[in-house]
Amino acid sequence: LLKKSINKLGSNPNLTVMDNDYLASQTELEQEVTFCVIGASGDLSRKKTLPALFSLYYHNVLPFKFHIVGFGRKRLSDETFREAAMENLSCRAGVVDKDECDRKMQQFLQRVHYVSGHYDSEEDFKKLHEFCCELEEEEDASRMFYLAVPPSVFAFALKNIRLQATSENGWTRVIIEKPFGRDSESYEELRETISKYFDEDQVYRIDHYVGKEVVQNITTLRFGNYVFEALWNREHIRRIDIVFKEDFGTEGRSGYFDSFGIIRDIMQNHLLQVLAYLTMERPNSFKADDISAEKTKLIKSIRQLKAQDFVTGQYEGYRSEEGVPEDSTTPTFAACVLHIDNNRWKDVPVLMVAGKGLNERLAEIRILFRKGLTEAFLQKGNSMGNQIVIRIQPNESISLHVLSKVPGLSTELRETCLDLTYKEKFEHESKDIADAYERLILDAIHGEKSLFIYDEQLEASWKLFTPVLKELESEKSHPPLIYKFGDSIPSQVESLLWKHEAECG
Ligand code: NDP
Ligand code: BG6
Repeated sequence: LLKKSINKLGSNPNLTVMDNDYLASQTELEQEVTFCVIGASGDLSRKKTLPALFSLYYHNVLPFKFHIVGFGRKRLSDETFREAAMENLSCRAGVVDKDECDRKMQQFLQRVHYVSGHYDSEEDFKKLHEFCCELEEEEDASRMFYLAVPPSVFAFALKNIRLQATSENGWTRVIIEKPFGRDSESYEELRETISKYFDEDQVYRIDHYVGKEVVQNITTLRFGNYVFEALWNREHIRRIDIVFKEDFGTEGRSGYFDSFGIIRDIMQNHLLQVLAYLTMERPNSFKADDISAEKTKLIKSIRQLKAQDFVTGQYEGYRSEEGVPEDSTTPTFAACVLHIDNNRWKDVPVLMVAGKGLNERLAEIRILFRKGLTEAFLQKGNSMGNQIVIRIQPNESISLHVLSKVPGLSTELRETCLDLTYKEKFEHESKDIADAYERLILDAIHGEKSLFIYDEQLEASWKLFTPVLKELESEKSHPPLIYKFGDSIPSQVESLLWKHEAECG
C-alpha cells in the first residue's frame, strides 16, 4: 500500500518500500491456514478478531483453504458460537451488494468451529490439535493462534499451544495483544515466558493503532513528500500535540482498566507508537527490522519522565462502577509533556493527552510550526501559525492550516486550510477503509512484521514509563483531579504546557 502511494507520487530512488501488496498474490493464498482464537467467547474475539477475519474473507484475501476454530472454557456448540459471532459480522460501508455480503457470511460461518477446554489443560489443547488435524486437508497446513485472553491466562495457553497444538509441517505463529505487562518487571516475565515457547519470528504483538489507515500514512507523508521532509525538525516545528479522547468510559472493562489506568492503556503503547512514527529518523529501508530499529532509537532518546510532567484526572462516577474500589485513584485522564533529546527535536515539547469520559471521540495529531516572520506580517491579531492536523479518527483527514487573503476588495486575512479529507479526496476508497485488525491479521498471515511491535520497543517504552508510574502511584501522593463526565480537556493542561514551552524558549 505504501508502495502504491509512493508510486502515485512519482518514485523516489532513495526509498525502498516493503513489498506487502498481497491483494494480487495468488500463490500465497494456496497455503492452508487454521486460525485458532483462544478466548473466543470474549469481547475482543467477538468485536474485532472474527469480524476482521470475515472482512478479509469477503475481500478474497484469506487463503483458499482456511478454518477458524474458537477455543474457550464455555461449553458451546458450533451453532451457538456461530450465532454469537454473526451478531458482529458486517460488511464495510463501501460494500453495496447486500445479498453477496449475506451469502459470503453464511459461507464464512460454515468454516467457523468451536472447541471447549481449559487454558491450563494440556489434554484440552491436544483435543484442539486433533480437531484441527481433522479439518486440515494438507499435511503442511499452518496454524495461527490468536490469544484473546486476559494476561493471567497467557502463560498456560502459550505453553499448551507449544506442547500440544503447533502445526506439524507448516508454520505456527501467535498473535498477542496488549497489555504487554504493566511495568518493566512484569514485561520481562512475559518476555521470558514467550521466548521459552516460541521464537521471536513466530510472535506477532499487536498495537492496533499502528494498523490504522492514517497512522500507516504518516511514513508516506513524511518520507514521500519533500515539502514535509524538509520542514520536519526543530528549526521549523515548535510543538507536537497527540490527543486521544473518548466520550465513553470503561464500558464494562473496569476490572482490567482499574489495575492499568489510562497511561498504560493508551499512552505507553498507542500514543507512543504514533509519536515514534512521527519523529523517528528515516529508516535504512521500510523493512520491519529497520523500522523497528529507528522507532526504538527514538523511544530511547525521550527524556526520562517525571510526575511533574503530568496532569492526571478521573471522571466523576468512575468509583461507583462495578469492580472499581471506592477509593481508587486510577487515572481515566492523563496529559504529559515529553522531550526528545536529539538534534532533530531538542526543545520541541510534545504534548500527549489521553482521556476517557471526555466531550468527544477523537484521535488527532497537531504539528505546530514556528511563527517566525508570519506574526510580523499581521497588522493586528495573533496567528496560530501553520499547523498540520492529522486526524486519525473519526473522519480521517490531513490538513495544512495556512493564512490566506479573503477574496474581495478588503485586506482581511483568514486562517484556513488545505484539506485532504479522506471521504472527499479518496471518494471511493475511503468507504472501504479497512479496520486496523484486518491489516494486521493479513500481515501476520504473510509473515510481514513491520506493523507489529518488537520486543526492543517494548523494553524501551517500559523503561521510559515505569519510573514515572511508580512515582505517580507512590503512596497515592499524586491524586488525580476529578472532572465531570463529558468535560473537555482540564485547564491545568494549559499551565503544564506553558511551563514547558517557556523552558524551551
Ligand atoms: P475478556 O474478559 O472478554 O476475556 C476473553 C475470554 O477469556 C473470555 O471470554 C473467557 O472465556 C476467558 N477468560 C476471561 N477471564 C478469565 C479468567 N480469569 N481465567 C480464565 N479465562 C478467562 O477479554 P477481552 O476479550 O476484552 O480481551 C482479551 C485480551 O485482549 C486481553 O488481554 C485484553 O486486555 C486485550 N485487549 C482487549 C481489547 C478489547 O477491545 N476487548 C482491546 C485491546 C486489547 P471462557 O470463559 O469461555 O474461557
Ligand atoms: C484499547 C484500549 O487498546 O483501545 C481501550 O484498551 C480503548 O480502552 C481502545 O477504548 C481505543 O481503540 P479505538 O480503535 O476504538 O480508538
